[in-house]
Amino acid sequence: MKAGFRGVLVAGVAAACAAGCSFNKGADTAMSGAGEPSVVVKPFGKTKGGQLVHQYTLTGAGGVVMDVIDYGGKVVRLFTPDRAGKLEDITLGFNDVAGYETHDKYFGSLIGRYGNRIANGRFTLDGTTYTLPINNTPGDLPCSLHGGNTGFDAVVWHSEPLSEGKSVGVKLTMTSPDGDQGYPGKLDVTVCYWLTPDNVWRIEYEAVTDKATPVNLTQHLYFNFKGEAEGTILDHELTLFADSMTPVTKGLIPTGKTAPVKGTPFDFTTPWIIGARINTDNEQLRFGGGYDHNWVLNSQSGKLAPAAALYEKTTGRFMEVWTTEPAIQFYCGNFLTDKVPGKRGKNLCHRGGLALETQHSPDSPNLPAFPSTILRPGAVYKTVTEYRFGAK
Ligand code: GAL
Repeated sequence: MKAGFRGVLVAGVAAACAAGCSFNKGADTAMSGAGEPSVVVKPFGKTKGGQLVHQYTLTGAGGVVMDVIDYGGKVVRLFTPDRAGKLEDITLGFNDVAGYETHDKYFGSLIGRYGNRIANGRFTLDGTTYTLPINNTPGDLPCSLHGGNTGFDAVVWHSEPLSEGKSVGVKLTMTSPDGDQGYPGKLDVTVCYWLTPDNVWRIEYEAVTDKATPVNLTQHLYFNFKGEAEGTILDHELTLFADSMTPVTKGLIPTGKTAPVKGTPFDFTTPWIIGARINTDNEQLRFGGGYDHNWVLNSQSGKLAPAAALYEKTTGRFMEVWTTEPAIQFYCGNFLTDKVPGKRGKNLCHRGGLALETQHSPDSPNLPAFPSTILRPGAVYKTVTEYRFGAK
């Protein structure tokens, strides 16, 4: 890496740097985006295996700025304005690759092949039983979490800048070989992150396979609208466009049933402060150590529809989550601790961030009543999720 490297502006000056345009990731030619949307690429560091990781800084025409790395497609920082226009990084992350490797590889990350848990690390498909790595044991019950030991979060993806009209982004591609983490089929995956002039972070997921395989891709960014390490998210106000959820066992595996949320602490069909009912005497909250559940979205159309809304009253920041997916995992950071250092020298805390992961239900390959997650050769896995930022 060159000393004094500041990055190279790859979109924003050349207005139409389309997907796939070539550019020199090593050149020392940083320029200012000056109000125009831009993508600036620079080295972020190296994995412990020695792979170079690039950082893409996306500056949106609407003011939102995000830093994305091609290691796991992680969002390292995401700055949004509060109601006074002050930008703040509202995500949890680390300043270097070692932070992710040491403390938590899921922060801000793409998750695959299978977001969330598969019971006992096992499923049967077309008569064959597949065994996955066991890497998680909530309630002392074994499961395979987030794609196994080396999920898509731990891979350096091929990356290139995107620019179209006033939107900028990064395109991430990778191939997961047949048998990767026990899953059948070679899976070719493309994920595009876009930042639009309306302050929308749009994620387009695509995958194709050469053998039938489960696919359930998601994004695991933690938000805290007051800023990183600025306390818990219990004071944030959440809406979930979901009349039912999928109750879990003590192993955080759905039982296979859906339950109406009405009259329970899981009813976020109108805005609720997250902390208001979190200590209710409720078996599901005990199993999750708080909220760590999958809600069945009211829209099952496969079309982009509202899934969640989040608001924090002191800063005025809000966000809407829209998705084509049928479900959303709301996880309020119950496993987070104050042993983990943040990006700005302060330690995080229990429930210091929350994730809203659009997806299919956990363990769907073993639960035939749930919408299928099986991708077959010839079909294209395609989902879209948008995080729309604002302040009021
Ligand atoms: C979430 C999951 C949590 C926890 C977290 C990673 O998606 O719901 O239970 O495993 O990922 O720390």
